[in-house]
Amino acid sequence: MSNERAQNLAHDVKLPFLGFGTYLISDSEAPVAVHEAIRAGYRHIDTAEFYQNEAGVGEGIRRALESERLSRSDLFVTTKLWPGNAAWGQMPKTTETTIASLHESLARLGLDYVDLYLIHAPFDHEQRLAQWRGLVALKEQKKARAVGVSNFNIGHLKEIEDAGLAQPQANEIELHPWAQKPELVSYMKERGIAAIAYSSLVPLSTWRSAPGHDSGKTDAMKSDGQRPDSPFKLMAKKYGVTEAQVLLRWGVQNGFSVLPKSTNPDRLRENADIFSFNIDAGDMAAIAKMDRGVAVAWSVGDPIKAA
Ligand SMILES: NC(=O)c1ccc[n+]([C@@H]2O[C@H](COP(=O)([O-])OP(=O)(O)OC[C@H]3O[C@@H](n4cnc5c(N)ncnc54)[C@H](OP(=O)(O)O)[C@@H]3O)[C@@H](O)[C@H]2O)c1
Repeated sequence: MSNERAQNLAHDVKLPFLGFGTYLISDSEAPVAVHEAIRAGYRHIDTAEFYQNEAGVGEGIRRALESERLSRSDLFVTTKLWPGNAAWGQMPKTTETTIASLHESLARLGLDYVDLYLIHAPFDHEQRLAQWRGLVALKEQKKARAVGVSNFNIGHLKEIEDAGLAQPQANEIELHPWAQKPELVSYMKERGIAAIAYSSLVPLSTWRSAPGHDSGKTDAMKSDGQRPDSPFKLMAKKYGVTEAQVLLRWGVQNGFSVLPKSTNPDRLRENADIFSFNIDAGDMAAIAKMDRGVAVAWSVGDPIKAA
């Protein structure tokens, strides 16, 4: 893996490897956090209708464009369709309401277009393809420069392929040493679907440890992160970096974009500094054996079969 800073979604659409995650950043915290992230060098911001912070993210972007003298085209902004989940008593979105949803997100963000629009999760068997058709239309209307999905497994991706529709350009999924999804990642690679890794920092003992930020981790997972002989602690020492930087670098060396979230300015800067060292082949091979096949951040069904 070279020290490229971006992967191609299309010949004219480059997705930076380093992105700033905004889940669990409130609408009122988002202007400061996003402004700080862009000042620290992040050029890719990940939000979603579901995070209820698009207005704050948009405000942070405007502040940064002005203070850093950047153009809109210097930034890569992703948001996500909340597709509606009948199992949670919600009305699944149709093609028309999908199109309306991006227009509403753009109004909250204060932007004319997003760089990437994703279906947040493959909830509804009946409407999934209708929602995907909505995203394809939004790309044609130039409201999204690229379109993709999130939390889709091989079965869900096959559904789109079998329907003869345009392929998603990216799939945003939980990916870290404990959740490596090798079959899904190689399926995506074969088809040129970019991987965006979320929750890269799951193995850290501090991951979502703030009050009210439920981690979904078992007690055993929590204590694994605290052990002084944790493999990531040892590697961090060897490379003279932090555990968080090792976990993020692992993602980038695998060709995944990563989306670390932090509201702490020092950690936010630390997480951006992942291009000045390499994890060696022996350590990459050791990490490859650490897959536990678990979803910690958010389990949305079978990793292979569509539901
Ligand atoms: N598409 C999806 O379904 C989906 C699902 C989950 C996440 N995501 C996206 O992916 C982004 C990242 O995932 P995530 O928010 O779940 O987790 P993450 O970025 O892997 O980890 C965030 C947690 O780690 C802490 N942290 C951050 N940097 C640290 C460092 N250098 N050292 C120690 N602790 C550190 C943060 O606390 P502090 O803030 O206090 O630093 C927070 O508790 C999200 O924000 C969101 O944009 C997408």
